[in-house]
Amino acid sequence: MAYVIDGKKISQEIKDELKEQVEALKKDGKEIALAVIQVGTDPASSVYVGNKKKACAYIGIRSESYELPETVVQEELISLIERLNQDDKINGILVQLPLPEHIDEDAVIKAISPAKDVDGFHPESVGALMIGQQGFLPCTPAGIIQLLKRSDIEIAGKECVVIGRSNIVGKPMAVLLLRENGTVTVTHSKTKDLKAVCKRADILVAAVGKPRMITREYVKDGATVIDVGIHRNAENKLCGDVDYEDVFPIAGAITPVPGGVGPMTIAMLMNNCVSGALH
Ligand code: GUN
Repeated sequence: MAYVIDGKKISQEIKDELKEQVEALKKDGKEIALAVIQVGTDPASSVYVGNKKKACAYIGIRSESYELPETVVQEELISLIERLNQDDKINGILVQLPLPEHIDEDAVIKAISPAKDVDGFHPESVGALMIGQQGFLPCTPAGIIQLLKRSDIEIAGKECVVIGRSNIVGKPMAVLLLRENGTVTVTHSKTKDLKAVCKRADILVAAVGKPRMITREYVKDGATVIDVGIHRNAENKLCGDVDYEDVFPIAGAITPVPGGVGPMTIAMLMNNCVSGALH
């Protein structure tokens, strides 16, 4: 039976630590502000943006909302970002993704000043991560490292297998695990004998995007299983990339969905807003 890694509790601890830091900064006359830009009215994006703003309010970070219509032209979005880049009262800029088809996501991300890139998506932030220099870390993989550390799960020397190679999760996850001295394998849709590779893992990070694909056939006895997926099943219930009921009896530790990785992403975004304001 697995130890359940409680992402909700750990994210709350982090948010409470940040709240204290923000209160101390306020006493020194420093206020932190995050600009949150949403283009269009995608319901899932609206939920994420709402949760980010709620977390800001809890911690004491001022959030400024920019809701742009689906039809906004790229130049207008980029000129808003450029204005926010120059605004000394704004510490972080977040553009909720995905953006509508007619907008070049890479160009928009590139327009954000690396000094305010709290998502850690700018090529300069990604490059800094790669070579171990100071920069904003992408929130989901940084949150997973915190889940492991705060659950006393050793990474150094461990076999770590990441399933998925996205720019947001898989690739940065691999680099962060490597930075913690894990032995890292990145797998993807072309990997041969995925089950056998995953079964080697002491720490298995599933970011495949397929509901409940990872059954116990992919998991070594006693392994730590981190589930990045979030899906709705036929009964409208949330589930992850991992078949939780199947894997739970044999894993050493496991993150649930919901209440695992999800809440950590927002906690780490808040952490980036605070740490950005300190530099
Ligand atoms: N869309 C899905 N995840 C994210 C995220 O972490 N940041 C932003 N900006 N958009 C997202």
